[in-house]
Amino acid sequence: MEALSRANVGHAPAYGTDELTNQCIELFRSLTTPQCEVYFVFNGTAANVLSLASQMRSWNSVVSSSVAHLPNDECGALESLVGAKNILVPTADGKLTPILIEPLLIRRGDQHASQINCVTITNPTEIGTVYSLEEIKNLRSFCDQHRLRFHLDGSRLVNAAASLDCRLSDLLMPFDVVSFGGTKNALMFGEAIVFPRGTSGDEFKYLRKQFMQLPSKTRFVAAQFLEFVGTDLWLENAKHANAMAARMSAGLANSSYARLTQKTQANGCFAVLPRKLVSRLREHYFFYVWDEHTFECRLMTSWDTTPEDVDGFLALLEKLGAENV
Ligand SMILES: Cc1ncc(COP(=O)(O)O)c(C=O)c1O
Repeated sequence: MEALSRANVGHAPAYGTDELTNQCIELFRSLTTPQCEVYFVFNGTAANVLSLASQMRSWNSVVSSSVAHLPNDECGALESLVGAKNILVPTADGKLTPILIEPLLIRRGDQHASQINCVTITNPTEIGTVYSLEEIKNLRSFCDQHRLRFHLDGSRLVNAAASLDCRLSDLLMPFDVVSFGGTKNALMFGEAIVFPRGTSGDEFKYLRKQFMQLPSKTRFVAAQFLEFVGTDLWLENAKHANAMAARMSAGLANSSYARLTQKTQANGCFAVLPRKLVSRLREHYFFYVWDEHTFECRLMTSWDTTPEDVDGFLALLEKLGAENV
């Protein structure tokens, strides 16, 4: 908010030509390569769809995990706006591997089949697990070997970086294009589409405008990203959110009313909770039921979750559990 206030003085050129946006682009270049390109957009769905639109034509398909946000929670935006297809791969832990993707390539070159040309992953995954740098490297080599573009939905990329104890550049450089999340990590609004090696081509700016994602007052998004990425704020926020998830996970592991279903590696815990307790818990703590059949629930923590929030949730689970059993 202070960075926004500082940016809210005087006048500045619009549509990405202001000083703060230039500084932000330079910041990303210093983290990646001098060719890196950065485009701000309003939200994460647009970041994903535009990132993929830059790589795909209507006869292409992108491979994603079956639990990815792209096919499940973006209202068919990719299919509707790009016309491209999304191929879903079931996974045990939300993570794609070369072995899972390879069989899908069999119809490349067949004019009757939609042509796979992209792989997209989310890190952390939608079920709270984190791809290691080695796993990402293997996927990158596989993509190079098969001439596939590689996209990262980095809506929570900073949580993955904090979990892996790596640099942001380690999570940017392996990809052709990255949706770099801001909003889920405390920004008021705004996401960045980053082409770490600057391969967007000259036409991406037209695509962003056509998709109605060119903010006129870009400086307000840039001011937030400068503060977030240009200082240790991203790490502080991400470490805190991850620590709160670890606290939650430890509590759930000790509870007889919860069964963890995934490793907690970033800022999300997945656990089956007793069906009859879920609505009572949600009267006090909002969370989503991830699987309506099993009552596997998705408990996310954030930069401002407090230890008291976590302990309060765990205490309520024990109290309601004891009353109902
Ligand atoms: C992994 C992931 N990607 C993308 C998005 C899309 O973000 P937005 O809601 O800003 O469109 C979300 C939002 O929940 C998300 O969790």
